Amino acid sequence: MQKLTELYSGKAKSVYATDDPDHVIMQFRDDTSAFDGLKIVQLARKGRVNNKFNAFIMEKLSAAGIPTHFERLLSDTEVLVKKLQMIPVECVVRNIAAGSLCKRLGISEGQELTPPTLEFFLKNDALHDPMINEYHIRSFGWATDNEVTLMKDLTFRANHVFKTLFANVGILLVDYKLEFGRFHDTIMLGDEFSPDGCRLWDATTRKKLDKDRFRQDLGDVIEGYEEVAQRLGVTL
Ligand code: TMP
Ligand code: ASP
Repeated sequence: MQKLTELYSGKAKSVYATDDPDHVIMQFRDDTSAFDGLKIVQLARKGRVNNKFNAFIMEKLSAAGIPTHFERLLSDTEVLVKKLQMIPVECVVRNIAAGSLCKRLGISEGQELTPPTLEFFLKNDALHDPMINEYHIRSFGWATDNEVTLMKDLTFRANHVFKTLFANVGILLVDYKLEFGRFHDTIMLGDEFSPDGCRLWDATTRKKLDKDRFRQDLGDVIEGYEEVAQRLGVTL
């Protein structure tokens, strides 16, 4: 598979065309961003850790019957993925209250959410990813009714896979964000799953092991990611 021109450069990853129109190469960089790109810093090893972490998780999702764009790892920081037509909607599941939910609803961090809740956000940094609902998604044509149903179903099914994986290594899955896209009219998971896009707390101490370490200047950001990876048995 030949790596051709850069198609797109996001805050933490770059996407390259290949000689196959159905596949692109995603490169994980060390750039770490928060607050919609307001704070960006390079953190050594991050690209490699997230690439390996993501591959491990994508394989677990596939094994559970959840379709993803993942094909195979190409190098420490590169992965071959299907080229999706992305839906500009972020699907967030919350098992425990944290982050924007606490600010918006005045809830204290750490409250368990039973059942877990799901929120949609529009992927738009300039607008700070505003929260939207299913009616917005349909009215603006971002996705059809059927696609919304599929995204919700896949997002909750992934919750079961993730929660079990992390619980087995003493980690609480607080919340996470997933993005979906179309591959020849089939909806599948795109983007990545790594500690950049979820909240993970040690089940006993509640120590934060995810990007909140960067957002809140807690230090040892990549050490937190590596600890999660090591507990899961990800080869870094
Ligand atoms: P929030 O509490 O800031 O709304 O975020 C909820 C979860 O979704 C958290 O794990 C971070 C993740 N997330 C992203 O990774 N990128 C985003 O743009 C948003 C809105 C959330
Ligand atoms: N992923 C978004 C950003 O980089 C939001 C965040 O993680 O705080 O800015």
